[in-house]
Order: sequence, then C-alpha cells, then structure tokens
Amino acid sequence: MPHKPRRTALRFVVTAGPTREYVDPVRYLSNVSSGKMGFAIAAEAARQGCKVTLVAGPVRLETPAGVERVDVESAREMLAAVRKAFAGADALIMAAAVADWRPARRLAGKWRKKDDGTDRAVLELVKNPDVLATVAKRKGRRVVVSFALETGDGERRARRKMARKNADFVVLNDASALNAERSSATILGRDGSRRELIAKPKREIAAALVALVAERAQQAS
Ligand code: CTP
Repeated sequence: MPHKPRRTALRFVVTAGPTREYVDPVRYLSNVSSGKMGFAIAAEAARQGCKVTLVAGPVRLETPAGVERVDVESAREMLAAVRKAFAGADALIMAAAVADWRPARRLAGKWRKKDDGTDRAVLELVKNPDVLATVAKRKGRRVVVSFALETGDGERRARRKMARKNADFVVLNDASALNAERSSATILGRDGSRRELIAKPKREIAAALVALVAERAQQAS
C-alpha cells in the first residue's frame, strides 16, 4: 500500500487569564480577565488537531481536553513559561491580560498601616516585560497573535501595535469582552486582511482564529 505522508501536528502556545503582581504575601495587583477567551482558543486548537501548551494565569477554569497546562502567576513567570514553550512551537496566541506594571518591591511581611495620622500611601511601580514583544523579536517564521483592547479609533491603534510588537495578527476587542460569554472581535492581519465577528460566543471567535493561524503556520512550515 502506498505510504501517505503524514503531516505532523502544529504546536500552539496559548496564554490566558490575568497575571498577579504581589505587593506583599497577601496582596496583589491584577485585572478582571476571566481567561475564557484563551481557554476557548486552547480547546479549539486541540480539537482542530494541534498540540497545545496553555500558559494560564490564576483562573478558575478546567483544563480543556488534550491540552498541556502550565500555571503561572506573575508576568515574569509567564515570560519564562512562554519562552520555554515557544522554542519548539509553530504559533503563539497571547490572549492573556498581562499586567503592564508590578510593585517595585514585594514586601516579605504584611504591608502595615501606620498610626501616624497619614491618610495617604504611595506604591511605586515598575514596568513588566512585554511577553509578546520579547519572544516575537526573534520569531522567524512562527506565527504570533496579539490581542488589543481599544477604545476610539481602535483599528489604527491595533495595527500599529501589531507592527510594533512584530505580530502577524491582532485580535481587536472592546472592554465588553472582559469576563463575558459573547464577544465581538475583529481579526486584523499583517497582510492587510480583516475579519469581523460580531456578538459571537467566544468558542466561535476561537475557532475562526485558530483556523486562520493554523493556515498561516502551515504555509510557513
Ligand atoms: N502583552 C504582553 N506583555 C505585557 C503586556 C501585554 O505580552 N507586559 C500582550 C497581551 O497578551 C496582548 C497584547 O500584548 O496580546 C496587548 O498589548 P498592550 O500593549 O498591553 O495593549 P492593551 O492591553 O490593549 O493596552 P494599551 O494600549 O493601554 O497598552
């Protein structure tokens, strides 16, 4: 019987959820991201036959079937996990809501209020590394997808963001996407392509995105 060449599965890295940036052992800065979009993308990619590593911030969601999950908390932990997984991958989809800032110092003990009459406190912040931009710098033929939450003239800003971060696609959504079941998204491609999905379940947006990225990754490999 003639031997049919078997295409090896594409390897996807997907990030999801918020990050936590600790102030002290019991307090942190974070955001309201639920992780649903990233988990839906990971589930779809596995369903479409990809090998998936899901780098997840702290969320209460079940690991999708067939997906390898790596749990992280901070942006710096996410960068380390993404770097490792991306080394052997074909595509990266950065759906995580990575905190842009972290406290300059993480106190070893609890941050205590002082009974000295002052009603103000100042928290010094430092910039977190940009996970996507850092790994996309030397991405070669690997496909990289950014997310962008924009208000106002979103498309122009999102396209600029895509170029600045060296991404191949950017998924543009508005703040209503956060913590919601349904979402509207516009998927913009570096090649000028544009695909608009309005008020769709996140699963449908995930399926469309995974198909686009898989097609591009296939062409590149
Ligand atoms: N991102 C990242 N590392 C960061 C911050 C963001 O990898 N430290 C990624 C996110 O996962 C997302 C994209 O970059 O894919 C979002 O870019 P960002 O510049 O943070 O844009 P917004 O969150 O939309 O906000 P702003 O325009 O205010 O920067």
